[in-house]
Amino acid sequence: MTKPPDCQSNPALARRVNVETTALLAELAANIPFIFISTDLVFDGRQGNYTETNTVNPLSVYAETKVAAEQTVLANPRHTVIRTSLNGGVSPTGDRGFNEQIRNAWQRGQNLSFFKDEFRSPIHAEYTSRACWELFSKRQAGLFHVAGREKLSRASVGELLAHRHVHLNPQFDTGSLKDYVGAPRSPDTSLDSSKAQAQLSFQLPRLTDWLLENPAESF
Ligand SMILES: NC(=O)c1ccc[n+]([C@@H]2O[C@H](COP(=O)([O-])OP(=O)(O)OC[C@H]3O[C@@H](n4cnc5c(N)ncnc54)[C@H](OP(=O)(O)O)[C@@H]3O)[C@@H](O)[C@H]2O)c1
Repeated sequence: MTKPPDCQSNPALARRVNVETTALLAELAANIPFIFISTDLVFDGRQGNYTETNTVNPLSVYAETKVAAEQTVLANPRHTVIRTSLNGGVSPTGDRGFNEQIRNAWQRGQNLSFFKDEFRSPIHAEYTSRACWELFSKRQAGLFHVAGREKLSRASVGELLAHRHVHLNPQFDTGSLKDYVGAPRSPDTSLDSSKAQAQLSFQLPRLTDWLLENPAESF
């Protein structure tokens, strides 16, 4: 279960799917490499620019399930946990990447609100996949952060995407986490990916540079 609100409203199912199923799969894969994709949201976001040695402090049910699953996976020294941040790109259904969800909302004429004080390290999913593959190929087990090289606020991400989809007449406001009512959110879960970067044949991109170099239909 990848959507935090769904996990928050059904914690028992979230634990079953995210923790128990992962434990079962890790057990079935006990003698072979196994990669579990985790999230930057394992951190409480008070610090930012987190490395693999920083202490986790999950604020939501989703994040708690990911921390519990990580611990199960990392108990096997053959296995790997890759924490990533917001992933975007082109999905087969056209609605899975955060960029696609934003574009689709603008296409429907929705006005969106983006926090100016919530920070992530967004990345194109192709790079996450390539990094997973290279780490796997080099038999790199253990914990790695794999995310974009640039820390961006959600408002900055919104502005970058609006610039890309001017023809949709994108409407959005910028708000503050301080005015947000709901389950706690981590303000700055930007990730330091140096440990993984040292193993990779390519540079993890800054989202701004990547967008400048690639056509609108690719993100
Ligand atoms: N997207 C992000 O920005 C992001 C950021 C950080 C971490 N992550 C992590 O990355 C991983 C993938 O996320 P995503 O955004 O690609 O999620 P997603 O679009 O919701 O895809 C989830 C995948 O899990 C499968 N799945 C869900 N429930 C299942 C079940 N009960 N049995 C078997 N398969 C099931 C889905 O199958 P179907 O294709 O059949 O629906 C789908 O392939 C997750 O572990 C998530 O926590 C994602």
